Amino acid sequence: MADKIEPATKVSKALLDKLNDAIAREMQVAIQYMWQHVQWGGVKGFAVHDELKSIAVEEMKHAEAIAERLFYLGAIPTTKPTPIFVGTTLKEMISQNVKDEENAIKLYKEIVEMAHKEGDETTNRLFREILQQEEDHHDTFTTLLEDL
Ligand SMILES: [Fe+2]
Ligand SMILES: [Fe+2]
Repeated sequence: MADKIEPATKVSKALLDKLNDAIAREMQVAIQYMWQHVQWGGVKGFAVHDELKSIAVEEMKHAEAIAERLFYLGAIPTTKPTPIFVGTTLKEMISQNVKDEENAIKLYKEIVEMAHKEGDETTNRLFREILQQEEDHHDTFTTLLEDL
């Protein structure tokens, strides 16, 4: 068997594990927001339907971008999402989403810092970009929640 090609950038197992945690969470919210926009109810649901749909697509793109980076760094992306919580009322759904975006922001700040410390500026830049979008999602869900 041929030797595995080593990537030019090497990072710690701890950082690789965090990237896989990020992928699991991105898959979770992509499915969660998708099922929420399928199951939304009531008149107020009209206001959040398109928003949930477009954010779900963005989360799927995050999962893919992080998986590409993780694979380049020599690890295999997980196929298991973090447990999904759809919710039954719109308020329950959007409250959960605010929490999930907060968790993403916390985790991605850790990854940004860790990647920088380990000299992996590509992962650092990728997560700074994603972080900005998670802050936008958090802002959107927080604003929606005020009117529910
Ligand atoms: Fe995301
Ligand atoms: Fe998000």
